Amino acid sequence: MTTPNASLPLRCWAEIDLAALERNLRLIRGSLPPHIRYVAVVKADAYGHGLQQVAARLMHAGADLFAVANIAEAAQLRELGPGWPILVLSPLLPDEDRFVAEYDVAATVSSREEVDRLEAAGRLAGRPLQVHLKIDTGMGRLGVWHERAVALASAIAEAPHLRLAGVFTHFASPDDDPAFTEEQRRRFLSALAACGLPGADPGALYVHADNSAGLETMPGASPFNAVRIGLLQFGILPHPGSFLNQVHTEPVFSFRTRVGLVKSLPAGNTVSYGRTRTLARDSTVAVLCAGYGDGIARALSNRGSVLIRGARCPILGRVTMDQTIVDVTDVPGVACGDEAVLVGSQGSDEISIGEFSRWADTIPWETLCSVTKRVPRIYKTALGT
Ligand SMILES: Cc1ncc(COP(=O)(O)O)c(C=O)c1O
Repeated sequence: MTTPNASLPLRCWAEIDLAALERNLRLIRGSLPPHIRYVAVVKADAYGHGLQQVAARLMHAGADLFAVANIAEAAQLRELGPGWPILVLSPLLPDEDRFVAEYDVAATVSSREEVDRLEAAGRLAGRPLQVHLKIDTGMGRLGVWHERAVALASAIAEAPHLRLAGVFTHFASPDDDPAFTEEQRRRFLSALAACGLPGADPGALYVHADNSAGLETMPGASPFNAVRIGLLQFGILPHPGSFLNQVHTEPVFSFRTRVGLVKSLPAGNTVSYGRTRTLARDSTVAVLCAGYGDGIARALSNRGSVLIRGARCPILGRVTMDQTIVDVTDVPGVACGDEAVLVGSQGSDEISIGEFSRWADTIPWETLCSVTKRVPRIYKTALGT
């Protein structure tokens, strides 16, 4: 385990198991037909796990292409070395266009305006820029509407300073609406055919639609040749009942803090801001060294629990910026310095990121992005078993 500053004890930290990440990628790949290429989605600091550390391990494990949200993330990734293919998923601002050439990345295009701008940037750079054509099959966010894709594909084909490197779409409800996901697949296939583009052609063109939840309904003989995976590579299922649990990925992320103070409070006393919790009994409480300033959502107030000495200890009252108070009355021997697990396992119990997120009425994607920069990421690197 590496620590950012070995002289300082950890108060609240995220443990990132890079060996589990590598195993996950291999398991996911192993569950897919061999012609399917792996686009690793590492936007938002690799879902809070640390972009460079995660991408370096995924490069080693055999990812084919990396998808980031913007040019700044692409620049960070490019520091790891030339040559690794990178796709920027979000639209570019006009003054970002020239960085497509500078960082040698592929841009997403959804409109004629973007095609014209990037053609101009390619001309200026003196070489063709790579683009992935995005087709909107029902997400209603990025992409050219599927019935209008042909004109945009032709514009790209006619642009001498653009090279089509991929075509893709994004599903709106792959986790809970298989019928609409199927309709999106159908629209995507029709648009590809209308544009004269191959689907599963194993050539240079990436044709991709499925994210983690998409894998649930991906046909065995997928008509596409790549998948775009974020959540599942971090060992998290897109929803609790997902049959992707058969892939047996393991959690990569855990979130931990320590007990800063243990004290007794009498029955009838209230706990924390707003006095939202009145103690029903004489209680022993532990004050944890982390709050919403670290990423414990305030919505967990009076709802969540943490693991201390292997026992579930309920959160009492409101989560505050730097501290969270939990009930340890029934847990003997809790002491200052004890580890408290917010997400992860301890003893025989585990708080999954799904459970932690449900307490906060949110989703694992948001929980991961909410762990703040005050929280050091501690990397476990050994491959182990
Ligand atoms: C365009 C796009 N593709 C793929 C993904 C990866 O999705 P998931 O994390 O569910 O695998 C995302 C995630 O937000 C996305 O926005």
